[in-house]
Amino acid sequence: MNSIKACIFDLDGVVVDTAKYHYLAWRRLANELGFEFTEQHNERLKGVSRMRSLEILLEVGGIALPDNEMEKLASKKNAWYVEYIQKMTPSEILPGAKELLEELRCNGIKLSLGSASKNSPLILERIGLKNHFDAIVDGNSVTIAKPAPDIFLTAAKKLGVEPEDCVVFEDAEAGIEAAINAKMRTVGIGNPQILNRADVVMPNLKDFTYSKLIEIFKK
Ligand code: G6P
Ligand code: MG
Repeated sequence: MNSIKACIFDLDGVVVDTAKYHYLAWRRLANELGFEFTEQHNERLKGVSRMRSLEILLEVGGIALPDNEMEKLASKKNAWYVEYIQKMTPSEILPGAKELLEELRCNGIKLSLGSASKNSPLILERIGLKNHFDAIVDGNSVTIAKPAPDIFLTAAKKLGVEPEDCVVFEDAEAGIEAAINAKMRTVGIGNPQILNRADVVMPNLKDFTYSKLIEIFKK
């Protein structure tokens, strides 16, 4: 008997590629502050909360600022980021994501979003996937960031399932850690070297199916 009852999806990097917009906005901020911020630096921000991302960026620039200044910079970056994501369309859904959500739902699997982003509602609205989830847990409802398990545990609770019956889809190391901390099963999306603690790693959701899920996580 298979025990997988729910799947929890991270948003940025799993369902949509918003990392490029985060990067554009962070780079614009760094340039305004007078230093370069490369794509390699940006890798460190994946899955990390907005304020922690800013701390890392300032670390790269060798800048220290008081908390109130940091708040202002984070808001500035977010305003730019929102400008970009407001223009998103369903064509930016990553390959296979929508099909997988629909197939899982048809097979009785409960679905939740589990993202740190406070912009999740706007993104889901823009790409037309809001109604594909039974629960939405994001940075507005849970502020304790990954690798803490809180986002995923809240999702399981909202869906009414036990953590061990959940599979988390994540592209960030911090996200895989968070799922492990929640005692959930994990599918890493991306680089197997970076996501080496995941139960299984796939390049994307393109060829992932309900039967693969059941096959991988059969007891
Ligand atoms: C996700 C992204 C991070 C981002 C965080 C907060 O975890 O991977 O890069 O910093 O969400 O996003 P927000 O939209 O609230 O600034
Ligand atoms: Mg992510």
